[in-house]
Amino acid sequence: MRKFFKALTFMSVALFSLSSAFAADSAAQEAASSPIVHDAFKDKVLYVGCESAFAPFTYINDKGELVGFDLDLIRAMAATEGFKVEVRAFPFDGLIPALMTGSIDLIISGFTISPERAKRVDFSDPYYRCGLTFLIKTVNADKFNTLEDLKNEVLCSQIGTTGALYTTKVLPNVKLRQFNSPPESYLELQNDGCVAVINDRPVNDFFLATSKTKEIVSKPITTDTSEYYGIAVRKGDTRMLNLINKALKNTLENGDFKRISEQWFGYDVSAGIRQ
Ligand code: ARG
Repeated sequence: MRKFFKALTFMSVALFSLSSAFAADSAAQEAASSPIVHDAFKDKVLYVGCESAFAPFTYINDKGELVGFDLDLIRAMAATEGFKVEVRAFPFDGLIPALMTGSIDLIISGFTISPERAKRVDFSDPYYRCGLTFLIKTVNADKFNTLEDLKNEVLCSQIGTTGALYTTKVLPNVKLRQFNSPPESYLELQNDGCVAVINDRPVNDFFLATSKTKEIVSKPITTDTSEYYGIAVRKGDTRMLNLINKALKNTLENGDFKRISEQWFGYDVSAGIRQ
């Protein structure tokens, strides 16, 4: 009997060491193949996600640099709390998935706070306020004054945006062509591939101002107080949310927000969020 126990003990020890050796081996393998885990608070770096064709908030300029109001703001915000920023670009509809899988710590990309999105992400305090407009060829401008006037026309917008969602809500049967980026939809309008482009007012305005075209004009859809932009963090990430809200407050108090705003818009846009 004792012999039997001895044999059993020996066998289980052998088995245990075999399995732990195996476990240690696979853990080492896993560590080697899995990506380096980023801890924003330890690294003092924020991985910031944006889409890169949403001028003047996040876009690639003539020199090929990723710039914009949102990026200047988040850098200034991060600096007030001793953080650096690393910007990563994604397609607009890939931003929430990138946040959820940990490729980025936050989204700043002219991203409107909405109840649907708030089910998947947490939003900071707002930092900008605006509404929707449509762009239309000047030759058609007299025929179409409201979104409803466009119900039988082909329209364009950016995939997954509030402009696209609002349009399909108001005009459920309209032909809406959705593009990856606003510049593609502007090109489509210029080529008569659609009659109007629906987008956020400041982005449509920036296109009109920089292209200096007389062939296209803009008309309001919703009022300029209808949407708030916020910074999105992972749902339940209160440490990050508190950091972001504190950093935003810092820049509103220390003059950074006002300075950056005046650089990009010619006035202090914080008046809009204080209303
Ligand atoms: N504000 C709109 C939204 O949140 C449009 C945002 C588009 N942003 C961008 N970076 N392309 O849906």
